[in-house]
Amino acid sequence: MGVKMGTKEILLDFFEKNKGIYFSGEELAAKLSVSRTAVWKAVNSLRKEGYEIYAVQNKGYCLSADTDILSSRGIAKYLKSVCSAIELHILPKTESTNDYLREKAVQGAPEGYTVIAEAQTGGKGRTGRSFYSPEDTGIYMSLLLRPENCSPNQAVKFTTMAGAAACEAIRQVSGREPQIKWVNDIYMEGRKVSGILTEGAVSLETGSLEYVILGIGINVYPPRKGFPKELRETAGAVFKEQISDGKNRLAGEFLNSFMNFYRDQGEADYREGYKRRSMVLGKEIQVLAPSGVRKARALDIDQDCRLLVEYEDRSREWLTAGEIRVCI
Ligand code: BTN
Repeated sequence: MGVKMGTKEILLDFFEKNKGIYFSGEELAAKLSVSRTAVWKAVNSLRKEGYEIYAVQNKGYCLSADTDILSSRGIAKYLKSVCSAIELHILPKTESTNDYLREKAVQGAPEGYTVIAEAQTGGKGRTGRSFYSPEDTGIYMSLLLRPENCSPNQAVKFTTMAGAAACEAIRQVSGREPQIKWVNDIYMEGRKVSGILTEGAVSLETGSLEYVILGIGINVYPPRKGFPKELRETAGAVFKEQISDGKNRLAGEFLNSFMNFYRDQGEADYREGYKRRSMVLGKEIQVLAPSGVRKARALDIDQDCRLLVEYEDRSREWLTAGEIRVCI
């Protein structure tokens, strides 16, 4: 992926590789082959973007070791070659990254076009719900896919891949194992830390998917003002306290894992990873169907992400994602 580098970007790149270390204005100017005034301007501009850059007399400038701001370069440094098609676009704030990306998709943006926001003002969840997307503590990301010859009912596999990829990324960065609540909610310590919303458009000519927008929201840290009342008992965050570069790393590792699964479209690891981390398999659950609540046991998840349940009367049913919800 290509990112155009000006003095500010080069300075940020240098600072990110040397977090917590002081450099004088003169040293920086020499390293970047620019004037000291250009360094000073770039530092100010980065500060305005929220980067914590200390300036200490006789020591110089230093990027705080705790800095954790999403940036293209910050994420790109974690990306592996499987992400060569990923084109990152970071926004401080948008209504919904899925909606933003849909406009780009209609205008012809290529597969791999990825929008990540530091905040959303109208984050969307499944079944018409909203997704709480406060500033600076989460990752709100939408990735554009243009799969070939893929029918709409196969689209659910991208949600499954994303669920498995999110768990893999969280495990790699936090060292802890999240779980998946069918169909696409990621839980840690009994609280939802991430949700996935997959949307798409079908070509009327071919009946195949024209594009897929894979949207994922991850609560990386607890929101500064806490979760709103209605989420307080159910929502959680991956980390309790800030870790260095946590958001960039998580975003990068998610893209690595997802693209690995996506490129290797065979009956791959993602399904095994998804099932292994399922919170519902083997458990007593409640099926929330339009006709009412029924007790059941979750038995299996198939390749189309359907959930096999057995009701108390021993009858069995394959539940389709999107139609029915389950409670544990
Ligand atoms: C859910 O939990 O029901 C799904 C939540 C999906 C949230 C993500 S955040 C990025 C993308 N943009 C949105 O508006 N929604 C998805």
